[in-house]
Amino acid sequence: MRFLSDYMIKDHKEFEKVFNDFGDNIGSSHLMEYFLKFKWNLTAHLAVEEKIIFINYNPETEEDAGMMEKILEEHRELISLMDDIEDRLNDGKDVDISHLKRMLIEHRNFEDEVLYPMLDNKIDENTKKQIITKLENQ
Ligand SMILES: [Fe+2]
Ligand SMILES: [Fe+2]
Repeated sequence: MRFLSDYMIKDHKEFEKVFNDFGDNIGSSHLMEYFLKFKWNLTAHLAVEEKIIFINYNPETEEDAGMMEKILEEHRELISLMDDIEDRLNDGKDVDISHLKRMLIEHRNFEDEVLYPMLDNKIDENTKKQIITKLENQ
């Protein structure tokens, strides 16, 4: 069952679209609206990953534990980059989203190609079913 990969890849595509809408509106007077929509989407996505999925997985090897630590560290960095952008927007300053964009793409690719296939292999079917139910009822 490839459920986790399929579900999260779909979620990644959705917030990528919201991020692109935000990027396409730099210079527009509605930029803050687009930014807040993106921030809401990404924050919810990170919460789903951390609170519903990662909590159900105990890394068995040091390598896997290191991978989970890298993911959580990147989440913290993404949140901090979003906070910086929000502060600049609130102050009426120009924003440069290139670093955030690069990080988002790298993070997402790593999850799509490495993390979620690994979780799909290692989390047992029963736990996956419970995760599915929680994801669908969140
Ligand atoms: Fe993530
Ligand atoms: Fe993700």
